[in-house]
Amino acid sequence: MGPTRPPRGAQVQVTVDGATQAAWLGEPLVDVINRAQIELAQVCYHPQLGPIQTCDTCAVEIDGVVGRACGTPVQAGMVVRTQTNAARTAQRDAYDRIVANHDLYCTVCDNNNGNCTVHNTLGVLGIDHQTRPFQPKGFEKDMSNPFYRYDPDQCILCGRCVEACQNVQVNETLTINWEAEQPRVLWDGGKPIGESSCVSCGHCISVCPCNALQEKSMLGEAGLFTGIPLPVWNSAIDVVKGVEASAGLKPIMNVSEIESAARDRYIKKTKTVCTYCGVGCSFDVWTDERHILKVEPGLGHANGISTCVKGKFGWDYVNSEDRLTSPLIRDGDRFREASWDEALALVARRFTEIRAAKGPDALAFVASSKASNEEAFLVQKFARQVIGTNNVDNCSRYCQSPASKGLSLTVGIGGDSGTIKDIENASLVITVGSNTAESHPVLATRVKRAQKLGHTRVIVFDIREHELARRADEFHRPNPGTDFVWLAAVSKFILDNGLEDRDFLRERVNGLDEFRASIEEYTLERAERETGLSAATLEALARRIASEDRVCILWAMGVTQQCGGTDTSAAISNLLLITGNYGRLGTGAYPLRGHNNVQGASDMGAQPDAVSGYQKIDDPFAVQRHEREWGVTLRPERGLDNTQMIDAAIRGDLRALWITGEEMSLTDANANHLQEGFEALEFLVVQDLYFTNTARFADVVLPAAASLEKDGTFTNTERRIQRLYEVMPPLKGTKPDWQIYTAVAERMGHRWGYTHPAQIMAEIARLTPHFAGVSYDRLEGYDTLCWPVAEDGTDQPLLYTERFNFPDGKARLHTGEYRPRQQAPNDQFDLHLNSGRMLEHFHEGNMTFRVAGIAEKTPDAFVEISPELAAERSIQSGQWARLVSEHGAVRLQVLVTGRVSGNQVFVPMNARKAEDAVNRLTGSQGDATTNTPAYKDTRVRLDVLHDVGPNPLPATNPRWGHPTPQQGVEVERKWARPDYVFPGGLLPMHGDSLNARADALGADD
Ligand code: SF4
Ligand code: SF4
Ligand code: SF4
Ligand code: FES
Repeated sequence: MGPTRPPRGAQVQVTVDGATQAAWLGEPLVDVINRAQIELAQVCYHPQLGPIQTCDTCAVEIDGVVGRACGTPVQAGMVVRTQTNAARTAQRDAYDRIVANHDLYCTVCDNNNGNCTVHNTLGVLGIDHQTRPFQPKGFEKDMSNPFYRYDPDQCILCGRCVEACQNVQVNETLTINWEAEQPRVLWDGGKPIGESSCVSCGHCISVCPCNALQEKSMLGEAGLFTGIPLPVWNSAIDVVKGVEASAGLKPIMNVSEIESAARDRYIKKTKTVCTYCGVGCSFDVWTDERHILKVEPGLGHANGISTCVKGKFGWDYVNSEDRLTSPLIRDGDRFREASWDEALALVARRFTEIRAAKGPDALAFVASSKASNEEAFLVQKFARQVIGTNNVDNCSRYCQSPASKGLSLTVGIGGDSGTIKDIENASLVITVGSNTAESHPVLATRVKRAQKLGHTRVIVFDIREHELARRADEFHRPNPGTDFVWLAAVSKFILDNGLEDRDFLRERVNGLDEFRASIEEYTLERAERETGLSAATLEALARRIASEDRVCILWAMGVTQQCGGTDTSAAISNLLLITGNYGRLGTGAYPLRGHNNVQGASDMGAQPDAVSGYQKIDDPFAVQRHEREWGVTLRPERGLDNTQMIDAAIRGDLRALWITGEEMSLTDANANHLQEGFEALEFLVVQDLYFTNTARFADVVLPAAASLEKDGTFTNTERRIQRLYEVMPPLKGTKPDWQIYTAVAERMGHRWGYTHPAQIMAEIARLTPHFAGVSYDRLEGYDTLCWPVAEDGTDQPLLYTERFNFPDGKARLHTGEYRPRQQAPNDQFDLHLNSGRMLEHFHEGNMTFRVAGIAEKTPDAFVEISPELAAERSIQSGQWARLVSEHGAVRLQVLVTGRVSGNQVFVPMNARKAEDAVNRLTGSQGDATTNTPAYKDTRVRLDVLHDVGPNPLPATNPRWGHPTPQQGVEVERKWARPDYVFPGGLLPMHGDSLNARADALGADD
């Protein structure tokens, strides 16, 4: 859990307070002391950050010399004493120096919740009086970020925030000006937070050991007395301070502890899983009724202390006034509110009528990749058992199906082959067509950290110079849609030059000869012509990949949303196979899943050709199992996928559609074509949180509950199944999706009888070999399982350690073919259109535009154009322009940046106005194997309009900031201050000068 720490050394023994302890050579001594459960102050130490060494409170005697337990690497035979007079004096002195920087007013502090390190350390050390009184520092509080504030007067200068920002999030915004007379934390070297490069990920706040960094949603809300008006609050602090002067700290601390305990009566802390992207961050949500006080990460397997702005602060949408709170039924051109009874009865009646009149295949169902596994399972159960059709799909059709297919063809399982731990441990990470830092922010932090700490080399292939591209050791910009070619050419070079892993190929892989023949024509010279990357570059790349010990390849929609998405995904897998990069720590294939549960929606069988666990609908064992469990026979004919559903509706073959939690009208390609399909339907049911653009076409709109309002499980990109618990009850008038399906099924004669999602998971486990051992008991709290899970509960975070998922256990090299762009720019449409996510927004933006702070910093979409194009057409940022394709037109403001080049333009997927969504422009061509639309294969022209407005990215957007990279806190600069002495009045202690100090001090007491 949490970011990578240095690998452990050999096992050794040390003595701590007279007892022998097992330890690892080189690990921080404080870890040994903590494992032994010996109470020791350690204010700046956080296990996920590692030693920072700024506070000195962890002073202990090591072989007779007082030193920092966190900053001392274990050596064999060390003798450590934590409670000698010298150590205690140093600990207390260190703490006294810290609280001289901090106004102790715990009783009226919003952070007084039992987990304040500064408060708790006071108790650990039994301190009753401050000898160095607090003096205000003369800085204002910084309130300029919409989500959090910094109070310099409360800042103890521990540097945890700096370490987190520099070396975990690697946004490199924070520093401490150690040389200043009064140091403080700085954003971009001294900017207001709101004008800095801060991306509001929240790492710094989550690790701050006190209230110096605090979520604004906590201020005045968490404590019994913290919401009182400012003059009264200030007087309360004066009273508290007055008592301390006369009676010492203990009585005050006793009162504050009583106050803190009283908060448990109204502050609820509930574990959930993020509802946005496929990284699958989990955290506790603190609430007081429906008010979200804060999100606290720490224990999640995928994320530890990490979040991005969406998971940490993106929750306003749950309590948005726009939430639907009543079913709606179409009445001519309008909608009227209806009772649940009436709406559900209407849905059941119309489905029954249409099935009777046109057969089961006249109905289709779209599951939500944002809903839970249990809910996706029920959608396909509803389609197959209640209706009798395989017309069921989910939005992985729009992004991930080609990657899943490419992996199924080569290694047998259509999911990531390992976990984030593997990616962190790779010696080389290659990303292809993935804006990882914006689309999978927390996963990207691990790549950035591993690179910054020197463990990993990063090579990025993309047509756009996004953040990870800028940071990469190598950034390559192939021509759009040509990834297959360089992958094939690099593979050929490796094989032609004997650089392949022969043992691995011989023992674990089939199809080498056919594969070799299939890539015969992909010489480096041909690749140079097609991709624009030089033959020398590709040769160097081939040699590097072949020589690296552990290679991971990450890819996303830049690969999959092309006409050859499946074959390119398989080509990535082929390259990993010929170089032996599967089945070991730090290796493998990672198609990064977009939605929080897009992996789960497919795993659960919301697909037209497979039931849960990718069991084919004509697999005799699956048929048998489902017959026994559901009492119906699975039909063997593949159903319609999302794309085919719309075509069938336009043809008149599909009459009814039920869409759950999917803004299909804006996220499918060719939005105008989609609209035509919706209008052709006889009956459309839309289930969502809001009256979405898709809902405009509905006959019945059902108000769903949000993820915070229900129990269930999500499966992240690692195949990691994680539980979410109900943080707050469903908003009045809404229902969780699983209850809605259950209610309609019952009205259609199928009494499922579920009263809790745990029962659905039990059914999933009975029907699905990959989920045989999955149960809610095994997923309690922060426990997780990475499927496949055996009946005894053994899971497989890293796949293919011994076998690939084919009958003979061997992988299969795939012989694919290159499918060039169909829509390369021409005379009429001279620009290549690229689209994708932005860090702050998710997908079309229905949820994130409802988060005030996000909308303030990133208010709308734009079209990003290159400086070359801007110069050629005399366009400036802020100018309005119309982008026109063969399929539609949108009106957007221009943003000129160096991220795009030449005649390529980029439009984010999020759009405030449905009429300007980028998918008005995309066409209907798609991946030959999976029908995934080739969104990234679109040509457009740009008509410049006369209006000019302000820059579409406001000055407060972090992209305008100027980060200040450095190697962490740089505590040596603190130690070099003339006023710094090691606590206890001893000599300054620098780095590893333990021995010198020992000599200077002589023997211990
Ligand atoms: S980017 Fe901003 S929120 Fe994230 S750690 Fe850095 S300063 Fe804190
Ligand atoms: S703001 Fe940073 S340096 Fe100050 S107390 Fe919090 S984590 Fe430590
Ligand atoms: S959006 Fe993704 S990276 Fe951000 S907190 Fe949620 S799961 Fe984590
Ligand atoms: S905990 Fe060791 S110096 Fe702060």
